[in-house]
Amino acid sequence: MADLLQRLTLAALLAAACAHAADKPFSHALHLKLRLGCTDCHQAVAASASAADNLLPKAEVCARCHKAGEVSVPDSPPKTLLAHFSHAQHLKLGNVAPVIAAAIDHGTYLSPPGNERELLNTKNQCAACHRGMEQSEQVSEALLPRMADCLVCHNDIDPPDSCSFCHAQGAQLTPSSHTKDFLDSHTSGKLGLDKTTCAVCHGRRFKCMGCHI
Ligand code: HEC
Ligand code: HEC
Ligand code: HEC
Ligand code: HEC
Ligand code: HEC
Ligand code: HEC
Ligand code: HEC
Repeated sequence: MADLLQRLTLAALLAAACAHAADKPFSHALHLKLRLGCTDCHQAVAASASAADNLLPKAEVCARCHKAGEVSVPDSPPKTLLAHFSHAQHLKLGNVAPVIAAAIDHGTYLSPPGNERELLNTKNQCAACHRGMEQSEQVSEALLPRMADCLVCHNDIDPPDSCSFCHAQGAQLTPSSHTKDFLDSHTSGKLGLDKTTCAVCHGRRFKCMGCHI
């Protein structure tokens, strides 16, 4: 009887441990310490030519170390506003981290760089665009590249025409800060605009109705 009870308790404990692992968010930090490379898990990346592809790992990959049902991978990839992007094409360029770092150092990077600069001292080709992987305890949007990264190389800015190079034609791309009367109100100096955030969509030098050069 005691033996049965013990076995039941053990089973319950194991089940609880499994449920526990399934509840836990996926940690890149933890798995990268096991010396797994990005494409050991994200096997579809190297051949991917479309932004719509699902690049998340297949469940078989996890089965190398986890028991069936212990962990899972989301069915669909994170949502993105991007319509056009080819991993295969960009991976042929090698590590683009030094190119992005140079833009920050020369002040041509079009967004406030935050703490990004240090993370660009990387030899990992993927981490040039997906920064902070080794620190990440939980997957979030912050792991995806910023628009300003792309504009380091694709620097034609002419809204709305230039936007469809990467976004879908006709996509809703005007930010919510741009209220109906924004053309008038933005000149007042009263909105407390953070002007460093405008350049990624409008560029640093642009002409508009005689007021801007
Ligand atoms: C052990 C397998 C594994 C390894 C190794 C791994 N990943 Fe992941 N990655 C995952 C899983 C699983 C998810 C989805 C997790 C979730 O959404 O719950 C994911 C999600 C992502 C995402 C999507 C982030 C988002 O916003 O949803 C990116 C980008 C990514 N990984 C890049 C990388 C890069 C770059 C590397 C190498 C530095 C890497 N991964 C290494 C398993 C792995
Ligand atoms: C030049 C920048 C760039 C490089 C380099 C890059 N990626 Fe990405 N990655 C992106 C962009 C942009 C997206 C979002 C659009 C998309 O899903 O294609 C993305 C999305 C992802 C996603 C999650 C979205 C999905 O569709 O499943 C994973 C996982 C990922 N990349 C892994 C990698 C890995 C692994 C490498 C290195 C082998 C890599 N990336 C290199 C730009 C890059
Ligand atoms: C090379 C072996 C290995 C592979 C492959 C692997 N994991 Fe893990 N995983 C581990 C180890 C080791 C731990 C930490 C010990 C534990 O909690 O079981 C862990 C822990 C976890 C945890 C719990 C996180 C925590 O904080 O305890 C989740 C969730 C997880 N893995 C998901 C996945 C997913 C999803 C995949 C497949 C995409 C995967 N793992 C592939 C070895 C692996
Ligand atoms: C280091 C420079 C560099 C960076 C950074 C970069 N690209 Fe590119 N991109 C290129 C080059 C080079 C080509 C190929 C140009 C050609 O063949 O005409 C290209 C091609 C493209 C194309 C056109 C594909 C086609 O149909 O031919 C798209 C769309 C694109 N990039 C999107 C992006 C996005 C989105 C990002 C940011 C996540 C990005 N690029 C970051 C250099 C870069
Ligand atoms: C060279 C590629 C590229 C071009 C050109 C581009 N974008 Fe983006 N854009 C991105 C990437 C990468 C992201 C981040 C991934 C995401 O949010 O899906 C992004 C995100 C966005 C977002 C959502 C996030 C945010 O910052 O609010 C908006 C809105 C946006 N872009 C508007 C525009 C507008 C307007 C233009 C034209 C002036 C434009 N984009 C041109 C690549 C590009
Ligand atoms: C009547 C003159 C006037 C017109 C017309 C005008 N602007 Fe401005 N704009 C200003 C003034 C003044 C500021 C500075 C506001 C402040 O200091 O907060 C400004 C600031 C900006 C900024 C912030 C970055 C910078 O360069 O200071 C952007 C971006 C901008 N305007 C875009 C536009 C666009 C796009 C148009 C055309 C659709 C436009 N403006 C038309 C007067 C104008
Ligand atoms: C995410 C991209 C994005 C950012 C960031 C952004 N804008 Fe815009 N802005 C747009 C787009 C798209 C339009 C519409 C262009 C068109 O259709 O001609 C626009 C239009 C405008 C207009 C004209 C509005 C009208 O009603 O005609 C002004 C003024 C303007 N922006 C100022 C700014 C200022 C100031 C900032 C920074 C505080 C800023 N924008 C940041 C994308 C952006």
